Amino acid sequence: MTDQHATDQHLVIRGLRVAPAAHPDREILQGIDLTVGQGEVHAIMGPNGSGKTTLAYALMGHPAYLVTGGEVLWKGRDILALSPDKRSRLGMFLAFQYPTAIPGLSVASFIRSALNARLQGVDKDTDIDPTDPVKGGVSMRDFRNKMREKMGLLRMDEGFASRYVNEGFSGGEKKRLEMLQMAVLEPEMAILDETDSGLDIDALRIVAEGVNAMLNPNLGVLLITHYQRLLNYITPDYVHVLAQGRIVKSGGKDLALRLEDEGYGPILREAGLETNVSDEALLVPKGPELELGTEPAEPVEAAR
Ligand SMILES: Nc1ncnc2c1ncn2[C@@H]1O[C@H](COP(=O)(O)OP(=O)(O)OP(=O)(O)O)[C@@H](O)[C@H]1O
Ligand SMILES: [Mg+2]
Repeated sequence: MTDQHATDQHLVIRGLRVAPAAHPDREILQGIDLTVGQGEVHAIMGPNGSGKTTLAYALMGHPAYLVTGGEVLWKGRDILALSPDKRSRLGMFLAFQYPTAIPGLSVASFIRSALNARLQGVDKDTDIDPTDPVKGGVSMRDFRNKMREKMGLLRMDEGFASRYVNEGFSGGEKKRLEMLQMAVLEPEMAILDETDSGLDIDALRIVAEGVNAMLNPNLGVLLITHYQRLLNYITPDYVHVLAQGRIVKSGGKDLALRLEDEGYGPILREAGLETNVSDEALLVPKGPELELGTEPAEPVEAAR
């Protein structure tokens, strides 16, 4: 790795060690090294409990996790010193697996506040007043147009914007809202934690279509998933296997196919790890429901 990576749009993770804040001596991540370049899609796969969600949360600054070692650079800045909102203003985005409901707050107001905050930038440019359209904020008209454009892109009904954030949303609608936020905020580094969506074909399809519609040469993606299936619809440039707090193997998309065929067992044993993971973990049913998924494969090609 060259030092040039420290200043451009690479996410550089070096020797990252993370423990739960409640148990600082119980490290979950034990030295993660990973660089996600501009425009690259990296998939992180790993057995249950291997630390995938911990990695996503630590990168975004979740208070329940304590970084006990290593560094994370993004745009040349040490982001571990920044609050989650500053990381977001710097162009990072985390799509939650289980988004929270906020009754009383409309989707439109929520996303507009987030967008305005993001526009002010990490260093809070005082010449920019996000609430004032003539001082760099988004005018209501521009915002409506942007929302309309992105909702069209994600094939969403316009009435969605006036509903309360996640209140009474179905699982699929929650996923759609995560994708809409991502589309409007236009992050440059998106982290998606899709741990449990492997068994939910609807959520899987929404995420795949959303991500594929947004892929562009400026967006780096860290796609966290237990199941290979999502990777049938979003083609990763690199696949990394996380186990026992470390990345034990990296490769191209073939690695994900191998995991699907063999489960995690053989790869973990090759890495010299004692394992009792069930190889069965990846054996998702290959029934007719998978046929549904052939449809989103097309935007993958279109977007790349
Ligand atoms: N806040 C916490 N306090 C204590 N232990 C935690 C905490 N968060 C995670 N852990 C433990 O750390 C390990 C890794 O958890 P993590 O949620 O990161 O795994 P994962 O790879 O996302 O798993 P899954 O595939 O089931 O989503 C687990 O053993 C978990 O119980
Ligand atoms: Mg998880």
